[in-house]
Amino acid sequence: MHWHYNDAYHCYCSDEIVYCKKPKDPKKQSLKIYVPEVFMRHDGTITWDKNVLNHNGSSYTAKTVPIIYVNGVSGYRESAPPEVADRTIKFIKDGYVTIGVGSRGKETRDASGKSIGKAPAALVDLKAGIRWLRAHKGEFPGDTDKIVSVGRSAGGAMSSMVGLTGDHPDYDVYLEEIGAEMDESDRVYASQCFCPITNLENADMAYEWMFREKAISVFNSSSLPKVNSEFQRALSHDLADAFPEYINSLDLGLTLNRDGRSGSYYNAVMAEITKSLNRFLIRHGHTQEERKLLAEEVDAGTGTVMWTGKDWEITDLDAYVHHIIGRKKACPAFDALEKQTHENHVFGSETEDYMHFDSFIGTLMSDGRYEKLNGYSSIYAEDYSSVTKDVDLLKRISLINPMNYIKLCGTKHVAEHFRIRVGSMDADTSFGIAFTLAKALEAAGHQDVDYALVWGSGHCDADYPGEFSAWLDDRVKRDNLQ
Ligand code: DHB
Repeated sequence: MHWHYNDAYHCYCSDEIVYCKKPKDPKKQSLKIYVPEVFMRHDGTITWDKNVLNHNGSSYTAKTVPIIYVNGVSGYRESAPPEVADRTIKFIKDGYVTIGVGSRGKETRDASGKSIGKAPAALVDLKAGIRWLRAHKGEFPGDTDKIVSVGRSAGGAMSSMVGLTGDHPDYDVYLEEIGAEMDESDRVYASQCFCPITNLENADMAYEWMFREKAISVFNSSSLPKVNSEFQRALSHDLADAFPEYINSLDLGLTLNRDGRSGSYYNAVMAEITKSLNRFLIRHGHTQEERKLLAEEVDAGTGTVMWTGKDWEITDLDAYVHHIIGRKKACPAFDALEKQTHENHVFGSETEDYMHFDSFIGTLMSDGRYEKLNGYSSIYAEDYSSVTKDVDLLKRISLINPMNYIKLCGTKHVAEHFRIRVGSMDADTSFGIAFTLAKALEAAGHQDVDYALVWGSGHCDADYPGEFSAWLDDRVKRDNLQ
């Protein structure tokens, strides 16, 4: 293996390594290894037995240090291996061996122009990379029994899948096709998911349940706001109405009432928002008076934030959406009417680059209820109705939805530890998506699921500094004692 030293970041870096034997796109199907300088010498040899104490008081050697496996998936696009300079540096600074892994994505094509990166290609690639690491164990520092998958957004979705489907036979044919190491395991120790955009076929419902209050979406400051049409508002209403039945079908031990704004599930989501706000206030307000001023600034006279006598509370999701977070996407948020989203693109096929995937929308349209409404076209009903007839598509949808693999909790396929972080200002998907994933993992008997909203963060690696490494070192310490 060839190594070079990075002066700016004080680590050794490997050259790009293709992780499968029959790559379809070797530039994307490759990874880079970053090693904190304490674990290597200038000649590239490894200091196997040197004990290194990190800032959490954990001691690791080159044999025992966890490996942080950072995927570069964003917007379900293809990705080259993440560079040392961006999101990987914090893990290297924390003293972990860090892998930047590239993968195919929604737009990847081969030399003949054929689409080769549609779902589940990115997940298959991430699995192949993990297998390569195991096949080459000992050629670089790090404990291949302590691989921690990390991803944000679509990459967070992929990270949840990596955590739930280790060595699952559903992916064997795809792995064989790219020449992955078939005798190695792709199971991981832990999965960190930042703002996962997942459970895509239920995400439209979840979005309208949360954001139903608003007809105006503001994607970002550089695009014009969109206004949901009369038809979209009716569809929003019907999608939101269907969410309680979906939630109640999951047996989470929490229920959502038909109004979508009461029941133990609703209260639990609001409690997470409240917890996130109070953590923020305690971090930044040194006295009760300072916290009060900060809470008043958050509230801005809207009545969204209430004083309970003990702490500040947010109990009204509509007020929170209306006054604090705002709506980002038009209805439907994921399987869009004009099929233009990342998700429509990643579920495309070799012949159709963008495809619908939310069969429930097709069902709603099938009885003609929207026909007279402004903004509706009968082409929509025809288009969405194709989803249920496409067996290949249905399989591909299922292969990247973690909710389909939750029942594996407690088996060898599933990571021991899950950590999910979502920004309290993240309007890219409903809070219901990641929260439901966490609750479903717990309901299936998973012993270690750490979910939290991070106040004030948007759609990003939402986290307080140092908390990821404290979480990981704590798990490693505990597991070593067992
Ligand atoms: C991402 C963001 C989205 O809003 C989405 O729908 C899919 C992916 C992303 O940032 O990866």
